[in-house]
Amino acid sequence: MNNKILIKNANQVVTCSGSNQKKGSEMNELHVIEDGCIIIKDDKIEKVGTSEEILKDIDEKEYNIIDAKNKCVLPGFIDSHTHVVFGGYRAEEYNMRLKGIDYMEIMKRGGGIQSTTEATKKATLEELVQLGIKRLDSMVSFGVTTVESKSGYGLDLDTEIKQLEAMKKLDDIHPIDISKTFLGAHAVPPKYKGKEDEFIDFIIETVLPKVVEDDLAEFCDVFCEKDVFSVEQSRKLLKSAQKLGLKSKLHADEIVRIGGAELASEIGAISADHLLRASDQGIRMMAENNVVATLLPGTAFSLKEEYARARDIIDSGCAVALATDMNPGSCFTESIPLVIALATLYMNMSIEETINALTINGAAAIDRADTVGSIDEGKKADIVIHEFPTYDYIPYHIGVSTVEKVIKNGKLIFD
Ligand code: NIG
Ligand code: FE
Repeated sequence: MNNKILIKNANQVVTCSGSNQKKGSEMNELHVIEDGCIIIKDDKIEKVGTSEEILKDIDEKEYNIIDAKNKCVLPGFIDSHTHVVFGGYRAEEYNMRLKGIDYMEIMKRGGGIQSTTEATKKATLEELVQLGIKRLDSMVSFGVTTVESKSGYGLDLDTEIKQLEAMKKLDDIHPIDISKTFLGAHAVPPKYKGKEDEFIDFIIETVLPKVVEDDLAEFCDVFCEKDVFSVEQSRKLLKSAQKLGLKSKLHADEIVRIGGAELASEIGAISADHLLRASDQGIRMMAENNVVATLLPGTAFSLKEEYARARDIIDSGCAVALATDMNPGSCFTESIPLVIALATLYMNMSIEETINALTINGAAAIDRADTVGSIDEGKKADIVIHEFPTYDYIPYHIGVSTVEKVIKNGKLIFD
């Protein structure tokens, strides 16, 4: 039998429709249908409109009905930047940071990404999958229906492949869809210290071809940062990956301004992420070249850094996405409510901009805005019912999830 769901009487259906990458002032447009109705057929949205428009033409008995009276209905959130598959934890580093030792200093002392790399090497594929399931379940409880996930805790051939295979398996067995990113150049492993160019060549010649051959990633990312990988090294890697069909993402201008935003624009990256120190020129170039600015306020919060200049970035005409950056070091959280609180209270983003940044622009940041990110006919039925009547309750209930039901690919997966 066909899967047919009718969501009716919603106080608000917040569609986030309009352009597939909302730039600048467009980010304030949410497109709200009062007393809204949605028809889902199989895994897709078949119709959206007011209850009056939709109910007159159908026989309600043919549907599984969800009455959304006094609720608001939104597209599933898209967490477009995470490092959710990893072994081990780094709780002691959080404590070190509280005592004043900074993130890059911990990395120089052999902790940080290197520490997670050692733990991830030791973990089996099955262990990584089991840990992943737990974390993805938690994300669903916050209304996330699509997640981007990066490798980068291998820094060698076998472990990078193992991490990406774990993501592939998770994509198959878990309802959440996963967009996979190869981040082989995430840190310089000890044996390549001072030989960063050689490491980049190793990634290009040995790891990248295998990732592509096994179809394990859609994007290539790099930690383009002072004392990690330079702009030149990042350019070389990302261009090689583009030649093999991988689209580009960058960890750009997070700690020191070295021209990551400019590089993202130059090479036509889909997104540049973090951007705490991005220059005015870099931001302008990103707007001109349609590079999505993915901002990660949880990381700035957790590292006690200044927040990215969301206002300047939006007002310069960029499309902004927001994501958790969930990882075991700089930001160990999958909390969307935290991101929403920080974006609205500390980055001066409006509620409408914040919601677009977590839906349609999150989809744009992973190049999936043609299939997810808004409640539009023909898109995947990834829909979240929130317990309150209007969307402005979502940030107002500070740090608490307002998610009541999650529908993913037309199936109710959280209730
Ligand atoms: O996006 N900045 C680099 N990468 C991650 C942190 C990874 C880690 O500390 O394990 C980030 O913040
Ligand atoms: Fe990251």
